[in-house]
Amino acid sequence: TSQLPTAPAAEIGVIGGSGFYSFLDDIEEVQVDTPFGPPSDPIAIGELAGRRVAFVPRHGRDHRFPPHRIPYRANLWALRSLGVRQVLAPSAVGSLTPDHGPGTLAVPDQLVDRTYGRSQTFYDEGAAVHVSFSDPYCPTGRQTAVGAARTAGWSPVDGGTLVVIEGPRFSTRAESLWYASQGWTLVGMTGHPEAVLARELALCYTPLCLVTDLDAGIEEGEGVTMDEVLRVFAENVGRLRDLVADVVKSLPSDRTCPCPQVLDGIDLPLTLP
Ligand code: ADE
Repeated sequence: TSQLPTAPAAEIGVIGGSGFYSFLDDIEEVQVDTPFGPPSDPIAIGELAGRRVAFVPRHGRDHRFPPHRIPYRANLWALRSLGVRQVLAPSAVGSLTPDHGPGTLAVPDQLVDRTYGRSQTFYDEGAAVHVSFSDPYCPTGRQTAVGAARTAGWSPVDGGTLVVIEGPRFSTRAESLWYASQGWTLVGMTGHPEAVLARELALCYTPLCLVTDLDAGIEEGEGVTMDEVLRVFAENVGRLRDLVADVVKSLPSDRTCPCPQVLDGIDLPLTLP
């Protein structure tokens, strides 16, 4: 591992599980520190399809951070400080609709925050910063991800609402039925505040949600178990990794989406890296 400022730059960031290391060539690991502490682990930077990609294992390499303890702010800040402007965020989610079972890839277009007690802003003091979050995800990133998934033979779900729960427990059947009755389609534990922190740094952020289970209100059996989630994720991590590589390949490097402009005209209380 090496220290900044000798760190190599990257343009695309991937925040994902540990099954993602091997998709980068010529990896260099960098230890990054941020005003918000260290990220989940040293960041792996490497080459993929001619692009420089930085990878952060969201839960740490040994999976020591549960969803409510992940250093979300440090992870996003560290990526931006390495030059990253576009973030891909693969994660495991439960499905709230029976027609999208385990193994489905979904690229939601909306988010509902049911977390509490997580730090969800970089702008805690100095000045009030209210970023627009009506559409939480990068439209170009979403379109690219859905297109790449179709080409690769997935039948991706384009759109839908991801409700992010505090965890680490799964939902009760009643909570799950309530979420489904609201029209929300996916449930996860890490999609927030990751998405809003990316927005606060004017980064593009694209979720790649792999359905690992039908949530407790939807299925008839024993409810969601961690074994099931881990097993289905492990069964699909290879194709998900391939998909991330495909998205990296086809993601346009000039950002014509609204994401780079979200902070224009706002007097920021701190200088972005
Ligand atoms: N991650 C994977 N499956 C999940 C579920 N059913 N609820 C919340 N997070 C999940």
